[in-house]
Amino acid sequence: MRPGRTLLSQTQIRARVKQLGRDLTRHYRGKQPLFLGVMNGAIFFLADLLRAVDLDDIEIACVRLASYAGTRSTGKLRGLAALGDSFKGRDVLIVDDILDTGRTLAALVARLKELGATDIKICVLLHKRGTQKVPIKADWTGFPIADEFVVGYGLDYNGRYRGLKQIRVLNEPAC
Ligand code: IMP
Ligand code: MG
Repeated sequence: MRPGRTLLSQTQIRARVKQLGRDLTRHYRGKQPLFLGVMNGAIFFLADLLRAVDLDDIEIACVRLASYAGTRSTGKLRGLAALGDSFKGRDVLIVDDILDTGRTLAALVARLKELGATDIKICVLLHKRGTQKVPIKADWTGFPIADEFVVGYGLDYNGRYRGLKQIRVLNEPAC
């Protein structure tokens, strides 16, 4: 499995993140949001988004969640138990790389509600069309994409290719 065709260039990603930053700035102006990045996939997106917003009082937290083995969702989510109790009464913005089956984000939202978050919103860089298994909507989406496995800009295949600057489609090896 190797990265193939570029789906989104660095320039496209940069421009869209800038726009999202403006939208989030407008939405959260005067509030004290807590941006919660889902690691490791959202590492670049979270950092670039934070640079693109113009807000004085953002708190930043990360949670490490994983559900994938290779290119398949296992349906089992690991990492939720590590969430601390600092979410009570907060406006939380979940920042994730991709909305696929929706299981990760649905479970995270449910847990944040249990922990007393007042308002929970979701910002994803990518939304895979036609793969959702759980009804959950992102409040802000960078790009809708087709059902292809992608890597780069934080997204990995078994831990590989996260550092690519573009988002590329993972190719099956030629026989
Ligand atoms: P969900 O729970 O199925 O929505 O899965 C979400 C998580 O699976 C994402 O946060 C990613 O970490 C991972 N994932 C889903 N699709 C892809 C992909 O195409 N490339 C890399 N990771 C993916
Ligand atoms: Mg993820």
